[in-house]
Amino acid sequence: MTKICCLGAGYVGGPTCAVIAYKCPDVQVTIVDLNAERIAAWNSDELPIFEPGLDEVVKACRGRNLFFSADVDKGILEADLIFVSVNTPTKKSGVGAGFAADLAYVESATRRIARVATTPKIVIEKSTVPCRTAESMRAILEANSRQNIRFDILSNPEFLAEGTAIADLMNPDRVLIGSLQTPEGFAAQKALADVYAHWVPREKIITMGLWSSELSKLAANALLAQRISSVNALSAICEATGADVDEVAYACGLDSRIGPKFLKASVGFGGSCFQKDILNLVYLSESLHLPEVAEYWKQVVTMNEYQKSRFAELVIRRLFNTITNKHLAVFGFAFKKNTGDTRESPAITLVKHFLQEKAHIHIYDPKVEESQIELDLCNPDVATPEQYKSHVKVYNSPYEAAKDVDAIVVLTEWDEFKTLDYRKVFNSMNKPAFIFDGRLILDTQKLRKIGFQVEVIGRQA
Ligand code: NAD
Ligand code: UDX
Repeated sequence: MTKICCLGAGYVGGPTCAVIAYKCPDVQVTIVDLNAERIAAWNSDELPIFEPGLDEVVKACRGRNLFFSADVDKGILEADLIFVSVNTPTKKSGVGAGFAADLAYVESATRRIARVATTPKIVIEKSTVPCRTAESMRAILEANSRQNIRFDILSNPEFLAEGTAIADLMNPDRVLIGSLQTPEGFAAQKALADVYAHWVPREKIITMGLWSSELSKLAANALLAQRISSVNALSAICEATGADVDEVAYACGLDSRIGPKFLKASVGFGGSCFQKDILNLVYLSESLHLPEVAEYWKQVVTMNEYQKSRFAELVIRRLFNTITNKHLAVFGFAFKKNTGDTRESPAITLVKHFLQEKAHIHIYDPKVEESQIELDLCNPDVATPEQYKSHVKVYNSPYEAAKDVDAIVVLTEWDEFKTLDYRKVFNSMNKPAFIFDGRLILDTQKLRKIGFQVEVIGRQA
């Protein structure tokens, strides 16, 4: 029986390896993590992350061929293939601070594999890493391993998006495996391809060299984020001219060379990947002495910041140029629908702007815990604990959150926001009652008929 171990039971390691176990009953999968609390949650009825379909997958194979454990060394010792799926956040200090990926977790996971392993292993980079990280991993493994232990390194970046992770994993556009172009590299590549081939058609399992594979992941995220920044830049032009950004995106998306996806204007992209990976690409470009290239990609992030502040300014301007002591309901705190993840959520930046203007914020999100909201906002970059206590309140119902507020600001595209009883909401609000749709999901005509003052990204009022 093939044995797989995954280091890192996060948003990627958990769902990815759970789906491998689900689709490969003949493979034993153990997901390990240094965070024992997270492992305990994976072993409980209350999984640590929310993803549609994840509960069913985990329940179907946990205890059968899927195991969650805090015993990292045992996981390493027993495995033939080891996924490294640990976090690679943007560095906060030191060389490359604010841009480069912090590879400390990848390095410590690699060192641990080298120290513990007693048999040959295929080590798979699942984390998103800068180009040529596999080379550093190889150097660490070779310098620190017990004698005569063979390590092969593969790059197998993950393309799942949160909120649709299970569907993406079950039916991926492609699985990418990079390896050294040597007989040993090809053999390792085949071993991993054989696992995916349990459910992914062979023609969708693509192989290439290590460096292309590593760079493809950064490139894919940069290209996706670039589309959003492009459409958001157009949204500013639409607001100033009377064009409608949804119509413009529709017209452009029908061109098969452009395609319709990832052209939804918004209050800005969030999530743990896009900004981090673009900044990583910027850093890589600068390190390679390609300042024009670095500047080009940096602009995608700059535009995203601009979109968020532009929206905050719109709210303030329409509320008669002051929101001091006004009450605003924030609908949605997650970075996108169908996830409880708030990493780099635009909501954090928007609430920061509103708190700086001394507004009172009522937050409602169907999946984000109050403790998470407090953690995100009581951060030296956002607000003080005192500001949070006196100016932020988290609600369990959108109707409660909207009571006695001057405006509703929609920041996440949760489906339930489309079908609320807006007449009831309107009646409970201060007048004039404003609604700002940062996701273009609401029926604005209907809202205007009720009496709302409506503002939408990418469309004139
Ligand atoms: P995460 O923070 O949710 O999970 C990482 C986990 O790794 C944590 O639980 C942490 O405790 C654990 N860990 C750290 N060092 C460890 C070690 N030495 N041994 C065992 N466990 C260790 O992160 P994530 O969102 O799952 O992302 C993981 C990687 O995948 C990142 O490189 C990210 O860029 C990439 N990625 C993420 C997504 C996404 O949608 N979140 C998509 C594609 C790729
Ligand atoms: C992204 C990539 O899509 C995925 O392939 C990669 O593996 C990880 O990074 P994720 O961040 O989970 O996935 O979600 P995604 O659907 O890409 O959305 C990212 C952000 O962009 C969200 O804030 C979303 O609301 C926003 N977005 C997306 C838009 O504003 N407009 C769009 O048209 C699409």
